[in-house]
Amino acid sequence: MSLFVITKNVYMTNAVKKQNIRKDAFLRRINSKSVIEIHENSGQNVKKYIKEFWTSKQRKGNSIHEISYRACFKSELPKYFIESLTSKGDIVYDPFMGRGTSIIEGALLGRQVIGNDINPLSQILVKPRLFIPKLEDVEQRLNEIKLNNRLKSQVDLSMFYHPQTFVEILSLRNYLIQKEKKNILDDVDLWIRMVATNKLTGHSKNFFSIYTLPPNQAISASRQALINYKKQQIPPYKNVKEIILIKTKSLLSNIDANHVKILKNIGKNCLLLSNDARFTPDIPNNHVQLTITSPPFLNVIQYAQDNWLRCWFNGINVDKISKKITVTSSLKEWTKFMNAVLAELFRITKPLGYVGVEVGEIDKGKILLDEVIVELGIKNGFKSEGICINRQTFTKTAQIWGVTNNTMGTNSNRIVLFSKP
Ligand SMILES: C[S@@+](CC[C@H](N)C(=O)[O-])C[C@H]1O[C@@H](n2cnc3c(N)ncnc32)[C@H](O)[C@@H]1O
Repeated sequence: MSLFVITKNVYMTNAVKKQNIRKDAFLRRINSKSVIEIHENSGQNVKKYIKEFWTSKQRKGNSIHEISYRACFKSELPKYFIESLTSKGDIVYDPFMGRGTSIIEGALLGRQVIGNDINPLSQILVKPRLFIPKLEDVEQRLNEIKLNNRLKSQVDLSMFYHPQTFVEILSLRNYLIQKEKKNILDDVDLWIRMVATNKLTGHSKNFFSIYTLPPNQAISASRQALINYKKQQIPPYKNVKEIILIKTKSLLSNIDANHVKILKNIGKNCLLLSNDARFTPDIPNNHVQLTITSPPFLNVIQYAQDNWLRCWFNGINVDKISKKITVTSSLKEWTKFMNAVLAELFRITKPLGYVGVEVGEIDKGKILLDEVIVELGIKNGFKSEGICINRQTFTKTAQIWGVTNNTMGTNSNRIVLFSKP
């Protein structure tokens, strides 16, 4: 046997040993104080670990995550699995990244990251937080952007905005879209665009709009007009630049120079895609150590329509995106979709790597999507490592694992975990 083959074998054995040690530690961690149920599924014994994996009070996520997004999970969820199942430099992936909770958390922990979401809005929300600008540069740039009173909008948004606020929004939108067309948006512009996108509408003082639904659930113009009528309210003036600066400060409140450096280093090598999660040819075979994700929910959320105003601000055609986004109320269709996603995940996962899929419970537990996912994972070659069910005190918005989806019928969340043999 050549020296090269011997060295390679020793290296492989050490890598396998390291993975096994990590897995044993993880299994001890999830076993400890868990209520364990065992169910048979597709010829494998599948364990359900039920406990409070952490209390959210003890572990508050970094301020940089605080971008609102429909059906996002809290950063504690990906953090738990990233810390337990990967090492610095390993690749963490989320095929349905949304606001990028797994991606930003992975980057903060020094992991290489790959993110994907079919809605290009996702990249607009994720990328700028990997390349964080200085507050004073944001302030200076905002001061440089000229107001343009002659800009006209094709959409009537007078039910959301004071006329002067709208001039400010339109001027900013025009500035960003023009620079994007010339491909000259820099990190400061991208940051401003992300913050403005997040501040378009909301239910408290520091939003550009008058009182409306929370920022992740933009409502239609006609429904907003109805709210205004019922509440007898007229949009007050809001200072767009001031609100962007306040939000920038709040997002950066837990970020120090070291974080900025780590995020930038990870950002330089990251891959952000806008593909269908079933088809990601840019990701090589056997490449990803951990996928941690939550797929589109069965039947309940219109990811594109909920973001129509955000899409308008960013010049994204919401109808075009709606057609691509997977929204289905048919379990059969959802199963077919997730089967193809799991086949793709199997292709890109490293041997001994992991996939964690967070799903809800539909119809008050009548449909257990975790059981469906276990079956699909096994069918596609994965080994089931169990289902983690986090028991936490409920609030009215399905708070298990910190998911704030405001969704009727989704009342608990479960992480289905697989390893690739
Ligand atoms: C439950 S959300 C993910 C939220 C994410 N975990 C977070 O914390 O923000 C599901 C995401 O899947 C995306 N999506 C829907 N259909 C898709 C598809 N076929 N391929 C890729 N992404 C898709 C939606 O745009 C949405 O952002």
